[in-house]
Amino acid sequence: MCFLSFSGSLESPSKTGPDVQILKLPFKGNFLLNCAKTWSNWIACLLFLPLTVLGRLIEAFFSLKQRFSKHDSSLEGKVVLITGASSGLGEALAKCLYTEGCKLIIASRRYTELDRVKEQLLGSGLRKGTVYPPVIIELDLQDLNNLPDKVRTILGIYGYVDVLVNNAGVSYRGEVTETTLDVDAKVMNINYFGTVALTKALLPSMIIRQSGHIVMIGSLQAKLAIPFRSAYAASKHALQAFSDSMRAEIKHHNVDVTMINPGYIRTSLSVNALTGRGDRYGQMDETTESGADPLQAAYAIVVAMKEKTQELMLCSLFYRFAVLVRAILPNIYFKIMARRAAKGKKSR
Ligand SMILES: NC(=O)c1ccc[n+]([C@@H]2O[C@H](COP(=O)([O-])OP(=O)(O)OC[C@H]3O[C@@H](n4cnc5c(N)ncnc54)[C@H](OP(=O)(O)O)[C@@H]3O)[C@@H](O)[C@H]2O)c1
Repeated sequence: MCFLSFSGSLESPSKTGPDVQILKLPFKGNFLLNCAKTWSNWIACLLFLPLTVLGRLIEAFFSLKQRFSKHDSSLEGKVVLITGASSGLGEALAKCLYTEGCKLIIASRRYTELDRVKEQLLGSGLRKGTVYPPVIIELDLQDLNNLPDKVRTILGIYGYVDVLVNNAGVSYRGEVTETTLDVDAKVMNINYFGTVALTKALLPSMIIRQSGHIVMIGSLQAKLAIPFRSAYAASKHALQAFSDSMRAEIKHHNVDVTMINPGYIRTSLSVNALTGRGDRYGQMDETTESGADPLQAAYAIVVAMKEKTQELMLCSLFYRFAVLVRAILPNIYFKIMARRAAKGKKSR
């Protein structure tokens, strides 16, 4: 990658200062570099494709083994804290987990919406066995300094939390050049730092009990950044990396980490997204509108929670293939994205 960007900057017409002139390669050198790039891409493709197929087969074997191995997969009676439970995927998760008989703690900023969710659950008759009325916690993930206090309040409810579902998040629509740094920071604060702060405040109690489960709702964009989503994709990439590091570190404390990377789900995510100026985007995107049903997505997540799946790509084969292309043929991916960005700009 370093190699590619180096050759790119050499060709940049805007860099004509003396230092750059000294670095400039003769035509033949550039030609050889380009050939090397093309050949290295093809060799990488030929080498990686069989390895990827083999890797997938091994993964499928282990996930089947895990599925059929005997472990207590019931979530009944578990204390589950869900952030962002006032709408969309969080609300659907609350419904599924309430039906499973979990002791729910539902959190977000809007008390009235959380109360609506709670009343709907209690009146739904979905739960056949013992009913645990959901407990509401008002919480703003941007308020980083206040999160440890919130966690103390949360731990005061049942004394512990079995599962933390980090679902709350905000999306973004805009161009890098037209986006204020405040917006980048806000998206990062909610999706990444707020989630990390909440996790860190709760984790010690799980480690003391030598038992716990942290579920991160990331995004397909944790793996694949698309144009006009820079702040959002960056925050989800960060969350993915944090989760991968943390998973390894806390495994021996019997605390599991499940990373969920959904594609499009039919929620208000795009409507609530921030623009580059920090306003509400306010539009239902076609892609979100035609996305998966939130309840179906929630159901798949609950299955992953029961099976303690470490990572779940909750999207179609097409998007999984795109992730593969990004990994093994990055230059092709960059070209497709550049075209998509140009098209997106024209249609504005
Ligand atoms: N929908 C999709 O296509 C899609 C795809 C991939 C990943 N995801 C992820 O799924 C998660 C849920 O999103 P959604 O699709 O259900 O969208 P949504 O309907 O807009 O829900 C977002 C939730 O996050 C909460 N939230 C936002 N800012 C918050 C803050 N500062 N502090 C606390 N809570 C906050 C909101 O509650 P309040 O407003 O009450 O605070 C709301 O409950 C997000 O992490 C999103 O990135 C969604």
